[in-house]
Amino acid sequence: MAEAKKQSNESLSRDLNVSKMVIDTDCMTLPRFILKLQKQVPQATGEFTHLMVSIQSAVKAVSAAVRKAGIASLHGLVGTSNVQGEEVKKLDLLANELFINMLRSSYTTCALISEENEHLIQIGDKYSGKYIVCFDPLDGSSNIDCLVSIGSIFAIYKKHHEEEKGFKPDDYLRPGRQLVAAGYALYGSATMLVLATDIGGVNGFILDPTVGEFILTEPDMKIPRKGKIYSVNEGYTHQWSKGIAQYVADKKDPAKGKPYAARYVGSMVADVHRTIKYGGIFLYPATKDAPNGKLRLLYEANPMAYIIERAGGMASTGKIAILDVVPTKIHERVPVILGSALDVQECLETSEKCETNN
Ligand code: AHM
Ligand code: MG
Repeated sequence: MAEAKKQSNESLSRDLNVSKMVIDTDCMTLPRFILKLQKQVPQATGEFTHLMVSIQSAVKAVSAAVRKAGIASLHGLVGTSNVQGEEVKKLDLLANELFINMLRSSYTTCALISEENEHLIQIGDKYSGKYIVCFDPLDGSSNIDCLVSIGSIFAIYKKHHEEEKGFKPDDYLRPGRQLVAAGYALYGSATMLVLATDIGGVNGFILDPTVGEFILTEPDMKIPRKGKIYSVNEGYTHQWSKGIAQYVADKKDPAKGKPYAARYVGSMVADVHRTIKYGGIFLYPATKDAPNGKLRLLYEANPMAYIIERAGGMASTGKIAILDVVPTKIHERVPVILGSALDVQECLETSEKCETNN
């Protein structure tokens, strides 16, 4: 009997290897990972799991659209109508609709804040839940048409009074430190979803297109204490503060140590993901024309700061931790300096020295 079972197991594993494709029959998918987290919280209702499954669905659909978009633009289809008379949507609008529809129909959210919508989207009572999701459905807009990596970013708050209907401004105009989770999806050479939660740390999941699932490939991600890369749009050098200009100049000066390598994709998700993997520093500082920088607090800076801090790094506006900024409006901007703890500290020290010498 045992011998027969052993033989049938051997033949099963032979079958799974039949096309030389190794299939992990017990892999950690994203829903399985979240369910495992849920089991560690005795009072959990499962609502967060539903919410994450809906974000996962949006990301899968955006990923498919991103992969197809090059083909649509090759054929000049964007903005035209297909054979059914449906408009072929621009990728950023499509991504926004996907996020909104998936989140609304998850019955877990009461309010959505999207980079693409001027006003907050209120979810009607019929669909309402306790979470507020702030998101940038497709970040890196200048890279969409030239097929360079782009991404989606999200941040999740839980409203203060779960038992009450609706929500109040202080449920979403609150510091990033009060987030319950944040993450991003990178549509690069593969699609990766990185999720940070208080109890689970930072974990990366690659979308395996053969099974259509996100599989845990980067458990417990940690950013190196110090890196060798700086990442900033140097076209704005003449507009930076003296401190930032000095720091970046130092990073290139052999007299100040081995010069750092420069890398700048211009898609925050790609630049932050590389910073977490290889270490170093990413900056989008204040400029003369944009005294608060370009990046938005609620759905760009905060989620990335939350992830970076949980991975052991630092994220600052140059004055305070990004996660301590109290927002006053939903599309507010903040300067961003984030990455390896020692690199960010050095940048802040150089800035401070320059300010006191002024
Ligand atoms: P977007 O939301 O319009 O795409 O702008 C945000 C993007 C970030 O991904 C990136 O870090 C930054 O803009 C790049 O800006 P710049 O081209 O000024 O360097
Ligand atoms: Mg953006």
